[in-house]
Amino acid sequence: MSDLQAILDRIAAEMAAAPDRGKVADYIPELASIDPGQFGIAVCLADGTHCTAGDAEVRFSIQSVSKVFTLAMALGRLGDQLWARVGREPSGLAFNSILQLEHERGIPRNPFINAGAIVVTDALLSGHAPREMLGDYLRFLRHAADDDDIHINESVARSETETGHRNFALAHELCAHGNLQHPPDHVLGAYFHQCAAEMTCRQLAFAGRFLVNAPELPSLLSLARVRRINALMMTCGHYDGSGEFAFRVGLPGKSGVGGGILVIVPSRAAVAVWSPGLNAQGNSQLGTLAVERLARAQGWSVFG
Ligand code: DON
Repeated sequence: MSDLQAILDRIAAEMAAAPDRGKVADYIPELASIDPGQFGIAVCLADGTHCTAGDAEVRFSIQSVSKVFTLAMALGRLGDQLWARVGREPSGLAFNSILQLEHERGIPRNPFINAGAIVVTDALLSGHAPREMLGDYLRFLRHAADDDDIHINESVARSETETGHRNFALAHELCAHGNLQHPPDHVLGAYFHQCAAEMTCRQLAFAGRFLVNAPELPSLLSLARVRRINALMMTCGHYDGSGEFAFRVGLPGKSGVGGGILVIVPSRAAVAVWSPGLNAQGNSQLGTLAVERLARAQGWSVFG
């Protein structure tokens, strides 16, 4: 057994015994009944090999991790024009906060808070019906992961549509400031569906390989864009928990309220971890602890 496999097995055993697992997101009713006892982890290395442990083959709702993929698609399609509509600063506020958006006249702080991700989805809808945009999105995920068995869970998307009042408020505020080019219900229909994509840890780690920058791994964007997406993951990927994640883990990461986190170790690896219980900032409690332990065990950090 490789050293990495032994480390993952040890971390999975530690997480199985962890007493404080956080709280499962319940504002999307379909996610409220997920068993918080689950934990999975997968690592794809720069040489193309991979290792997994725990529930790495269980599908989960990727939720806000989807924002990395839609940002990559939007940058590939529109290039730097996107930055006229969305900023690149950490928000220091919750992922769904409305406060800053009004104060800053409809320009979201970054593409990972909900308001920013809604603008990115709106940009991807340009010239496309929502169904076509979602088809492109699924093709992107499947191509990046080299796996066609990736789908959107319609019940999760519907469940969020019925309860997504804050996101509707954000979309209407964006509209009021002229920063939405399509009707709010079209944009949010697409956004809720992108969030409702389901992947396993193994699929998510594979899908993240294009952000690693290693000769053996797929290259879907220019190196300059890969570096910038990593910079945004580092500074904004965990919302008002981004500083804490950088302090503890020292690597770029993007979380979702389904309990998944995609972490990139530049030039070395893509890591996906999943445990549904969340901390106060809406990021996976055990997922964060697990990647903190993995990074320490492997000596992985962007800070040397
Ligand atoms: O917009 C929402 O509220 C969800 N679909 C996604 C939020 C999310 O995953 C935040 N991440 N931790």
